Amino acid sequence: MKLRYFSHSAFQITTDNKISILIDPFLEGNPNAPVKQSDITADYIILSHAHGDHIGDAFKIAKRCNSTFICVNELANYCADKGFKAHNMHIGGSHKFDFGRIKFTIAHHGSMTPDGTYGGEPAGILLFIEGKTIYHCGDTGLFYDMKLIGEMNPLDYMLVPIGDNFTMGIDDAVKAVELANPKTAIPMHYNTFPVINADPYEFKKKVEAVGKNCIVLNFNQEIEL
Ligand code: NI
Ligand code: MN
Repeated sequence: MKLRYFSHSAFQITTDNKISILIDPFLEGNPNAPVKQSDITADYIILSHAHGDHIGDAFKIAKRCNSTFICVNELANYCADKGFKAHNMHIGGSHKFDFGRIKFTIAHHGSMTPDGTYGGEPAGILLFIEGKTIYHCGDTGLFYDMKLIGEMNPLDYMLVPIGDNFTMGIDDAVKAVELANPKTAIPMHYNTFPVINADPYEFKKKVEAVGKNCIVLNFNQEIEL
């Protein structure tokens, strides 16, 4: 499978069977977005929470591609109310889809849609696909249960917000990596707006200093997992 990074918290996973899964596709209005929403397709769109910088272009893409949303119950209902296909889940629950299994974790943050609708609890996302486990933390502060998440679900990749202000900053994100203990950490949610400017190479250096591995993805870079 392939993992492609669009900047902010937006990723695309393409499975070996060519199933496209988008996470938090924030492109329009994202000054770092390397592609337009019309450039990409999605069979599934997973949203970590309802903030505008995570819903992003999800509805435009879903309308064009007939994508299925996967999110926590309240946010899934919001998508369904707009006429989209949605699979309702909630924190702690997992479900097997045709591409693999998804499980939602806690995340300490807020979740209201841009139009003021309650979006349910914000979440982190565990993806179990083709024998690999990926943890997209969503937007969150540091929490000690990341240790439990890593123990129960040995992680290959951890996608970690480092931009500070709305989420963990670099030092908390390094501690998060120490707690969850992934094989590889990948920083996200930085440099989109001045208030979340952070140097991903400082994060990488600090992660390596505690004996862990880190890859900084360029915007639009795609890697084989
Ligand atoms: Ni947010
Ligand atoms: Mn955010």
